[in-house]
Amino acid sequence: MCGIVGYIGPRSCASILVDGLRKLEYRGYDSAGLAILDTRAMSAGEPAKLNVVRAVGKLSHLDDALREHPLVGSVGIGHTRWATHGRPTEANAHPHLVGEVAVVHNGILENHVELRQDLIARGRKFSSETDTEIAAHLIDIELANGAKTLLEATKNALSHVRGAYAIAVVSRKEPDVVVVAKSFSPLVVGIGEGETFAASDVPALLAHTRDIIFLEDGDIAELRAGGAKIERLLVHGDGAPERFTVTPVVRTPKRVDWSPSQAEKQGYKHFMLKEIFEQPAAIENTLRGRVVLETSDVDGTEIGLSEEAVKKIRRVVLLACGTSHHSAIAGRNWIESIAKLPAQVELASEFRYRDAIIGEGDLVVAVSQSGETADTLAAVRDAKRQGATILAIANVVGSAIPRASDAALYTHAGPEIGVASTKCFTAQLAALLLLSIWLGRRRGSLPEARAQQLLQGLVEMPSHMREVLEHAEICQKVARRQIYTPEARDCLFLGRGLSYPIALEGALKLKEISYVHAEGYAAGEMKHGPIALIDSQMPVIVVAPKDQHYEKIASNVQEVCARDGRVIAVVTKGDTSIAAVAQDVIEVPDADPDLTPFLTVLPLQLLSYYAADLKGTDVDQPRNLAKTVTVE
Ligand code: F6R
Repeated sequence: MCGIVGYIGPRSCASILVDGLRKLEYRGYDSAGLAILDTRAMSAGEPAKLNVVRAVGKLSHLDDALREHPLVGSVGIGHTRWATHGRPTEANAHPHLVGEVAVVHNGILENHVELRQDLIARGRKFSSETDTEIAAHLIDIELANGAKTLLEATKNALSHVRGAYAIAVVSRKEPDVVVVAKSFSPLVVGIGEGETFAASDVPALLAHTRDIIFLEDGDIAELRAGGAKIERLLVHGDGAPERFTVTPVVRTPKRVDWSPSQAEKQGYKHFMLKEIFEQPAAIENTLRGRVVLETSDVDGTEIGLSEEAVKKIRRVVLLACGTSHHSAIAGRNWIESIAKLPAQVELASEFRYRDAIIGEGDLVVAVSQSGETADTLAAVRDAKRQGATILAIANVVGSAIPRASDAALYTHAGPEIGVASTKCFTAQLAALLLLSIWLGRRRGSLPEARAQQLLQGLVEMPSHMREVLEHAEICQKVARRQIYTPEARDCLFLGRGLSYPIALEGALKLKEISYVHAEGYAAGEMKHGPIALIDSQMPVIVVAPKDQHYEKIASNVQEVCARDGRVIAVVTKGDTSIAAVAQDVIEVPDADPDLTPFLTVLPLQLLSYYAADLKGTDVDQPRNLAKTVTVE
């Protein structure tokens, strides 16, 4: 996830672009840059100049660089980067300048490996590790091959790429246009008085215009000072008589009425709520380019293990802290049941201080959103020293844990701003399930038909998640009725099997943002102690989807009810038996028993969010917590 901006009009645009990027810094701040066309010499018959300034780190570094090398001109593009392909270096910073064109891009080009190889074979030299530079080369080639306009060159180039992009392009050859295009990544166009803007998100434009065109997937637009000409690019499959077709479309600007801070959160009250709602898209990003339905398999190139190396794995050890530890528990269960490998999950903060036996034959999977958590990092270094192979599952590209590992499987969930992790939790689940399937297929423990079921279920999961999120108001009512009450000072969360880590995660979310004491428990353990806590004041949140544990957890619900406990049950749609005794029921769609965690965690995140919001706590930055824990 990165932020892009563009401007064309009568004003000098460097500061307009930088101000726009500042509003998008929440989308990433690994590096930033501008490309601006200087047309001053054109009146003397000279060509326009295309100048680029880039800097690693936050925007203040770009400010410094621009003070040293000011950019002059009134047509330009800008970018703030959240690294996906390649480390956060100046060479990898956007805009990428290739020949006549400069390009900024947000997204991931899925076929970047084959395109890069092909371009190298055609003699093209790359100066970065990014997928974006590929797009710049493709457009430059189209211009060199006679494309009449930048729009035409960009259309031709984009017909070769697969994946997600929001892209903005400028060229020395046509200094009075900015071309933008969108597929999956967000992009809006702002219509001003004799000037036109583009940005990843509305806040970047609000200082200049409130008349916004929300581009749709497949849209490509030629921006001029007087407005936008928009077309729809439809790329056909290989072998079709035409590579692509283009149809003009009319998109009427909408007048937005958001305050700038509302706009940054896209109308959500808190980043946490926005991120809860971003989960279906986050999962799509984690799955993108990795699910291969045709062969019922996972593209595990990034995992970096040969078939031979997979066969040598004797055990998988998952290391993590906090929320990531909870996703790792689900990962352990999947690795055991799907890949049929012995697996154990460890709190990194404990593991590193034990005399744990680890070494060759162990695959250590380090799970971390930030990739910087000190305990996980130290445990990884220790395990590596002892000869284990390390795979990181992380969200922040180029962070310390992936760097200390042998390979990394990134979740690509986009920056998570709310301190309480939500979308990165479900994205980690998706990455861990992909890993389990990949291992299972290579070890021969996962039949093709079952792999196909799981992968199909994963691909369909975002739409089921959207269905749960559409009914968020039910969780708000339950939070008000059951948790935001003077009596409810403690809550118990129960689950079995894959619902156990979900119960742990539900309890952690409630504690950290609403400051209500909560315990997550394996439901079978309840009678070994926590049952003593249950009385008529105690909300007991039971995670009970239809799976192999259903009968057992239904009995636990009866035990709670027999002691007057107040049961809030998260169940599969159509459940009648638990619903008959629970005080409140929140339904989730029916799903494969292995996939229920993606759905059951959503109501728990929402319950915590609404309870905290009702209490008026600082939801996005709860007291005493930090997003990245770099202390031991
Ligand atoms: C809870 C939360 C923390 C983190 C933990 C590990 O909502 O966010 O418990 O999960 O600090 O952080 P990462 O995943 O960055 O290693």
